[in-house]
Amino acid sequence: MENKKLVFSGVQPTGNLHLGNYLGALKNFVSLQKEMECIYCVVDLHAITIFQNPKHLHNNVLETTASFIATGLDPNKSIIFNQSSVSGHAELAWILNCVSRIGWLNRMTQFKDKAGSDKEKASVGLYIYPNLMASDILLYKATHVPVGADQKQHLELSRDIAQKFNKDFNCKDFFPLPEPLISKKISRVMSLRDGTKKMSKSEESDYSRINLQDTADEINKKIKKAKSDSNSIPGEIKSLEKKPEALNLITIYSELTQSSLEKTISEMAGKEYSYLKKRLAEALIDEIAPVGKEIKKLLEDKSHLKNILKKGTEKASIIAEENLKNIREKVGLI
Ligand code: TYM
Repeated sequence: MENKKLVFSGVQPTGNLHLGNYLGALKNFVSLQKEMECIYCVVDLHAITIFQNPKHLHNNVLETTASFIATGLDPNKSIIFNQSSVSGHAELAWILNCVSRIGWLNRMTQFKDKAGSDKEKASVGLYIYPNLMASDILLYKATHVPVGADQKQHLELSRDIAQKFNKDFNCKDFFPLPEPLISKKISRVMSLRDGTKKMSKSEESDYSRINLQDTADEINKKIKKAKSDSNSIPGEIKSLEKKPEALNLITIYSELTQSSLEKTISEMAGKEYSYLKKRLAEALIDEIAPVGKEIKKLLEDKSHLKNILKKGTEKASIIAEENLKNIREKVGLI
């Protein structure tokens, strides 16, 4: 049986989304909604694997929803909802906890990074988080999953879980093996302070990232302060391999101007980084500042945002319930 094409992806509501989320995920979400049926989820159950202040969590769910809409997601085209409102995510996660193997989870590098040096103190939820992610995807039998490169290992685990379920319960092709859709050009936007680390919400310095709600002034300041290189811009990519911060700035600029990295470098060759920074700040202000303004405007009407989530939940629940019925049957649950 051929599973129909369906896109699923999720974003954690853990505060201000940034340029990494935007270029690595949200922009692709928007272009995919033109081609396929898409489901986009604010994954609040994932967020609580690390303690969240309940009031902040509530607001962050709405803020992430506003960010979805402000970047161009259309609730009439895509299903937009929050994870905890469809209880099937948690139910299927339990079933998949029993399919997934401890050895597989032990290999997850993101758990090692997030748990830090004292793993004994990490929540059990953080450890089994990748199983919940597999549940999100498989609950809808999604075939395509747009994500940044940092989620690749989790996607591979989702495929392993799907494959083992299909084999254990003797139902070939029941779950499709979800395909990651990772941008070839900019799969990992790096920190503006340390080009070896990904841009992230959790890095302490706000100067390490461009937030979607940064003002033009803040964008200018952050790009001016961004680490680059004291030499002028070289003529070929190879010379930038040992200069990750400089390469990151050029890559972001080439993505925003929709030009190839090679072309951007040849245009910039011999110029100072101050020139690139000026152009980059302009490009960012053109693209990001209107999104930030729109997020702020949308947040003024919280009941509108809640309504979008409610309608999305109704649509998502229909698909989830239908699939869950078949999943329970395969497992032998009455
Ligand atoms: P999260 O909330 O950390 O990030 C949301 C999306 O943004 C991408 N991303 C980046 N891309 C490029 N450069 C960066 N610096 C950068 N930082 C973040 C992430 O790859 C992601 O696509 N576990 C997921 C959420 C999730 C999910 C799912 C995703 C839960 N269930 C099912 C897909 C399918 C996460 O924590 O993403």
